[in-house]
Amino acid sequence: MAEDKVIIFDTTLRDGEQSAGAGMTVDEKFQIAMQLDRLGVDVIEAGFAASSPGDFEAVSRIGSEVRRPIIASLSRANPNDVDRAAEALKGAARPRIHVFLSSSDNHLLHQMRKNHEEVLGMAVESVARAKRYCPDVEFSPMDASRSGQEFLYRIVEAVIKAGATTVNIPDSVGYAIPEQFAELIRGIFNNVPNIDKAVVSVHCHNDLGLAVANSLAAVRAGARQVEGCINGLGERAGNAALEEIIMGLHTRKDLFGVTTNIDTTQIVPTSRLVSETFGFPVQYNKAIVGMNAFRHASGIHQDAVLKERTTFEIMDPESVGWRGNSLVLGKLSGRAGLRARLEQLGYKLSQEELTLVFQSFKSLADKKREVTDMDLEMLMAEERRVTDTGGYRLDLVQVHTGTSEIPTATVRLITPEGTAVSGAATGNGPVDAVCKGVANLVGVEPALDEYIVHSVTGGLDAVGHVTFRLSHNGRLYVGRGADTDILVASAKAYLNALNRLLAAEGAPQQATATT
Ligand code: KIV
Ligand code: ZN
Repeated sequence: MAEDKVIIFDTTLRDGEQSAGAGMTVDEKFQIAMQLDRLGVDVIEAGFAASSPGDFEAVSRIGSEVRRPIIASLSRANPNDVDRAAEALKGAARPRIHVFLSSSDNHLLHQMRKNHEEVLGMAVESVARAKRYCPDVEFSPMDASRSGQEFLYRIVEAVIKAGATTVNIPDSVGYAIPEQFAELIRGIFNNVPNIDKAVVSVHCHNDLGLAVANSLAAVRAGARQVEGCINGLGERAGNAALEEIIMGLHTRKDLFGVTTNIDTTQIVPTSRLVSETFGFPVQYNKAIVGMNAFRHASGIHQDAVLKERTTFEIMDPESVGWRGNSLVLGKLSGRAGLRARLEQLGYKLSQEELTLVFQSFKSLADKKREVTDMDLEMLMAEERRVTDTGGYRLDLVQVHTGTSEIPTATVRLITPEGTAVSGAATGNGPVDAVCKGVANLVGVEPALDEYIVHSVTGGLDAVGHVTFRLSHNGRLYVGRGADTDILVASAKAYLNALNRLLAAEGAPQQATATT
């Protein structure tokens, strides 16, 4: 008997990027897409091609280079958007155009000012247009869970007739309750005559904290594609957390009777990469991927787990990719050991890359007794940031601070042209002084929206990870940096954000840099 599979549709790069405070480069999106490929998702929604040149480029690059999964681009129901999506997906091995249009009376009345017939016409025309470009077309009636059921059945039937191969039922505002959402899905199966010609998908938001519960209820009712984001990222309170959906289906196979194509051991590495790239830490008690998800604090639980793991663990932590904080390398480890461990973590390095990474590894191992997998992942992310962003490089930072001192930072940078520039600045605190020192040299000082520090591993010698969110000319720039010294990490992260600003806006008119 053929296996009953649920298609896993990842929209971290599209809906996830709609999280307030998110902002990624094309290269970062590409790195995440490659990891999603390793995770085994069936569909990657790589962006919304018509929304910006950056999204267009991301869809196009991921489409051309990530060949196994289906690569989707979102598109509003208008000819220009559909054409842009098709253009961006030209090089994709398995392209999908995902057209959406609101179907609830609320949105029709207040946002679109259109009636049912007009909306039906736009949906059908756009799906038919998308179908001329590619055979795989998805349609989403936005705000489906608040739409009139009769109209929802009509629009779903009409888009399938026009060529949609997947119909996605979004709970766009997170309003649904599991039993009722399952009933809605059953209603679609029972009332749309051609429903057997399409896959029924769901896309749930988490405004009431029910996105995963609603998605799983929909699977019970027959949905065979689930959309979501890693770590539950997404617009407002986010989307259904894909890792929870996957492990729900996997752990309770007895109930759902379905399988997925996911390699569950890639869940934690994917979560970490997404968290690090977005600059959104994962809450400690987050299911599956939170750092407390498999930690037992109570003595009674610890005793039981030591006797038999399944007494208090319904999943094996290793099955979702927790490798623990085991010591993997130290200051005596050589290049071969480093290369082997990085390969086990999924990084394939050229000789030159290994030489660079080895230097950073050695200096980290000098400061830290134990270099764990998490440290190595941070180190790789730091290397990638330096190579990918180009621009200025941090050469030196020294800070004077204390209870009776005016915090003063001395900073030396290497310019994109290769010259060293240096200067000193004072600030309200040491981080302020470091940022001012960097900003003076680069010649631009954007507004600070957010500054976050968190430690990657435990212990006083832990690597500190810093995220800056800066805004300039109405745009957001996210910068990240990691180091065992949080002032150095702050300087790296601030400079990373400024380099992104320079890449997007060009060099400032009058740089105040001094040599
Ligand atoms: O939440 C939503 O309705 C969406 C659609 C574009 C699928 O994100
Ligand atoms: Zn959404």
